[in-house]
Amino acid sequence: MILDLYIYPHPILTQKAEPVTEFDEKLKKLIEDMADTMYEGQGVGLAAPQVGISKRIFIVDTSTPEEPSSLKAYINPQIILKDDPVVWNEGCLSLPGLYKDVNTFAHVIIEAQDIHGETFREEAHELRAVALLHENSHLDGSVFIERLSPVKRNLTRKFWSKNAHKMADKVYGESKLRCVF
Ligand code: NI
Repeated sequence: MILDLYIYPHPILTQKAEPVTEFDEKLKKLIEDMADTMYEGQGVGLAAPQVGISKRIFIVDTSTPEEPSSLKAYINPQIILKDDPVVWNEGCLSLPGLYKDVNTFAHVIIEAQDIHGETFREEAHELRAVALLHENSHLDGSVFIERLSPVKRNLTRKFWSKNAHKMADKVYGESKLRCVF
């Protein structure tokens, strides 16, 4: 089931999300629905606050022909290491059509729980590392434009406050996604 997508600067995207304590059927269904929503938006990651749920959950799928099924859920994640500073052209389903070069890291070690509550550790590089950090930031109420320089950040915020509806229409107009502003 495709969920409603919350568009920046909706307040749910700027608040700190709560830890998950129940690893039940409801959680499993939420993660399936988040995956449907992410694929409809052609994203490589999606965090629960982006579908209106302020919980510490995100999913990432950075599949390539070499690694065809890389969908994974990260619950109550913690970044153990970030290394290899890099500038990356990032985008976000909650800021559709906006892409900016921002500082991030190309080597990450993350620890999280899976849908059964089991703890796992993953080491990631390049796009996968960038996606893990991007999604993890959503759980702390931060979107990628926060990582722009102050001048660029202000310009981008101004642009976005004028153009969010137009951009969402342009990017999602033909899709099944419904936006919440
Ligand atoms: Ni995002």
